[in-house]
Amino acid sequence: MIKKAIFPVAGLGTRFLPASKSIPKEMVTVVDRPVIDYVVNEAVQAGIEQIIFITHSSKDSIENYFDHNFELETMLENKNKLDLLEEVKKVILANVSIVSVRQSRPLGLGHAVLCAKHIIGNEPFAVLLPDVLVKENSTENDLARMIQRFNSSKTAQIMVEAVPDHLVDQYGVVDVETVPNEGKSVVMRGIVEKPAVDKAPSNLSVVGRYVLPAKIMQLLEQTPKGAGNEIQLTDAIAALQKLENVEAYRMKGQTFDCGSKSGYLKAVLHYGIEHPILGDEFKRMIRELSL
Ligand code: G1P
Repeated sequence: MIKKAIFPVAGLGTRFLPASKSIPKEMVTVVDRPVIDYVVNEAVQAGIEQIIFITHSSKDSIENYFDHNFELETMLENKNKLDLLEEVKKVILANVSIVSVRQSRPLGLGHAVLCAKHIIGNEPFAVLLPDVLVKENSTENDLARMIQRFNSSKTAQIMVEAVPDHLVDQYGVVDVETVPNEGKSVVMRGIVEKPAVDKAPSNLSVVGRYVLPAKIMQLLEQTPKGAGNEIQLTDAIAALQKLENVEAYRMKGQTFDCGSKSGYLKAVLHYGIEHPILGDEFKRMIRELSL
């Protein structure tokens, strides 16, 4: 059973400056909730019970968001603002524990994941990169499908989606014999971090959702610095794939890269029009603008 998920949130968000200068990029709001709220809820809906933030000294507001704020709650209660009180309390997830580990040096995604080694122990686990929002078009989410597949096949699952060829050098890219249908997994032949466009084995990019066995931690300990002079999770997955099968899972949902300004704007549009209270008004605003 996959119950633990690692969220590497220590990155300083240089692609999102100046907004991320004094607030974590994960706390920027999409409609009425911070980005991290969507990603944590995606994990919880997939059955995750322990959230492990790999964090940085400047990012306490992420942990504070998921904790009670007694002063605020007491004030809302005293003023009889019970709807708001309920809204605020809903953020605290029942039966989910939150653990934080500091990544005090920016040594890369692989290093961030390795920081949780002592919490992971011998259990398989998920990794969710909080820059990327995965919006589902069905009730079951892609991460839940990856976990089911991991449980039945006992092979690591790496979520991928097709991107335009000229963008492959921004992502991890997988090598597969046949491209799987959406919602399906296929054994990978290889994986490479940010390949040059003419060297990329495919246009299937790594989205930022992983289901991995505990032994990836030992491999990460032996992984030298790679692309960008950082310890790359992709390189440890490539090492794992030499020892046993690793599968690329092709997602069904839609992604929004909220670490980039244009991806963020697109996310606001898509989540905004579907918001249960604000959606209709927001659609009207968009129609007015496009006149
Ligand atoms: C990381 C991973 C990369 C993946 C990407 C998805 O890169 O290293 O393999 O494709 O996230 O967003 P980063 O965006 O941190 O450079």
